[in-house]
Amino acid sequence: MLATTLTLLLTLPAQAAAPPGAATCSGCHGPRADAAIPSLAGRSTESILAALLAYRRGEGSPTVMDRIARGFSEPELRAIAAWVARP
Ligand code: HEC
Repeated sequence: MLATTLTLLLTLPAQAAAPPGAATCSGCHGPRADAAIPSLAGRSTESILAALLAYRRGEGSPTVMDRIARGFSEPELRAIAAWVARP
């Protein structure tokens, strides 16, 4: 109960500040590492942004991330990367 309340208090402000699109990332990129979907835990803003920009340029052979990355402008991707990488 106390832990739940604390978790709510700690997570609510961060969620309220999520830039457009950032809340959808965790639907696939959960807290646990998965064979098909790489974990973003512990990744820096710059490394996440670099991956997103590469997907947007069509690099690699992504299954879904190219379409997701192309749905956002570079400033939007930067805001999303910073939010996803927050401690
Ligand atoms: C539909 C599920 C899905 C959603 C939603 C999704 N991703 Fe992904 N993500 C993947 C998969 C699968 C990969 C592996 C590359 C591929 O196949 O497209 C990936 C790869 C990545 C990588 C590269 C990780 C690495 O280790 O190289 C980054 C960074 C990333 N996603 C960020 C995001 C961000 C930020 C969002 C939210 C805007 C997001 N993803 C939303 C499924 C998803």
